[in-house]
Amino acid sequence: MHDAGMQRWHTIIEPFRIHSVEPMRSTTVEERAARLAEAGFNLFNLHADDVLIDLLTDSGTGAMSRDQWAAIQRGDESYAGSPSWYRFLAAVQTLFPFEHVIPTHQGRAAEKILFSVIGGPGKVVPNNTHFDTTRANVEFTGAEAVDLVIAEGRQPDLVHPFKGNMDVEALDALITDRGAANVPVVFVTITNNSGGGQPVSLANLRAVRAVCDRHGVPLFLDGCRFAENAWFIREREDGQQGRPVPDIVREMAGLADGMTMSAKKDGLANIGGWLAMNDGVIAAQCRNLLILTEGFPTYGGLAGRDLEAIAQGLTEVVDEHYLQYRIRSTAYLADALDAAGVPVVKPAGGHAVYLDARALLPHIAPLHYPGQALAAALYREGGIRGCEIGTVMFGRHPDGTETPAAMDLVRLAIPRRTYTQSHIDYVIEVVTFVASRAGELRGMRIVDEPPALRHFTARFEPRD
Ligand code: F0G
Repeated sequence: MHDAGMQRWHTIIEPFRIHSVEPMRSTTVEERAARLAEAGFNLFNLHADDVLIDLLTDSGTGAMSRDQWAAIQRGDESYAGSPSWYRFLAAVQTLFPFEHVIPTHQGRAAEKILFSVIGGPGKVVPNNTHFDTTRANVEFTGAEAVDLVIAEGRQPDLVHPFKGNMDVEALDALITDRGAANVPVVFVTITNNSGGGQPVSLANLRAVRAVCDRHGVPLFLDGCRFAENAWFIREREDGQQGRPVPDIVREMAGLADGMTMSAKKDGLANIGGWLAMNDGVIAAQCRNLLILTEGFPTYGGLAGRDLEAIAQGLTEVVDEHYLQYRIRSTAYLADALDAAGVPVVKPAGGHAVYLDARALLPHIAPLHYPGQALAAALYREGGIRGCEIGTVMFGRHPDGTETPAAMDLVRLAIPRRTYTQSHIDYVIEVVTFVASRAGELRGMRIVDEPPALRHFTARFEPRD
């Protein structure tokens, strides 16, 4: 239903018309099989023109609005103190009233700067689940990254309204065990991308805050998908129904001492991010690093026009009709696959549907990468590009050992405002077809891998 005035209609429509279109290119199964072999069975190595429906990521791949393109024309490229910077700052602080806002070219730049300042050997950083770049940036400083999502969050088919919640007791125990002095920050990722795009409740954030207060440790949000998280709170948390989304966002922000952000997600922009915090001493150190690697503090790594696109995007992303359509259209894909008997993470995440490759391919051992095998098959059969989130991404450890990840998933991330329902119907058809022949899929072997973040560049070959 759209709103009280339109109660009779149950179809949730895309709340936009299409203004400018991009062509899509079809290829044959034979062509795709050849491209796959050339790419070393790593979908990151494909030419995007050879992909029909690109669900590799929801990051930077969304369609901008008419008003964002108009804002780009207003971009002011002054090196220092651009009016575009002040519009960006106001838009960020309207939702996240942190004292210091440090613009960056994307989320991982904010992570790199923050952890360079507060990380280091002997330190430990808890998170509900670190995203891969977050984990890599923590570990790069010699610190340890620990994932403490609730047990329900590790069971793909278990339905729970807030599967992204932090295990508060485990957090308390970890800080007590390691000593608060060795825990520079507690992170909560909203929504929990690597754990299925699952939300975190306000109640859980309050409980995490209480633990942080007891130990005197700051709490930061990884806010990439804050608006989607806020919508889930509004839909699912007691007492939050009907509450304006910006109010929920401000309450989440108010429970934290700072945040990292990739504006390529819920900034509705194609590039951008920020680091924000209340601590002026750490902010000053971060700004010094920013100048070294990103740029002057009023533009970070961004052009003035990018700052404008983000400022406008932040007003559109908290729109209720947008969020209702966004969350419902993701659930539409998950529900259809579930009804067809394809194992998916339940309930549906906000930005993506996660196929449970380990459940679908029990004959492929985790160290033979069932997620990679499934992702390759979806591309070969239908030109759909998803992303393994499992043992390829998380199995290799800094000490060189390899163990199975907690889950072997294939993420079908939905770019914002980009694909229509018929595109998604096609995805449903292809995934269902591949799942019906799951027994024919074979595991993979890595033939070449880099020392860190191997999923981006590793090359594979199928096992016999
Ligand atoms: N944190 C989370 C939770 C993310 O999902 C991402 C990016 C980042 C941090 C880093 O942001 O890409 O702007 O540097 N996630 C993308 C994805 C890449 O596909 O999920 P970035």
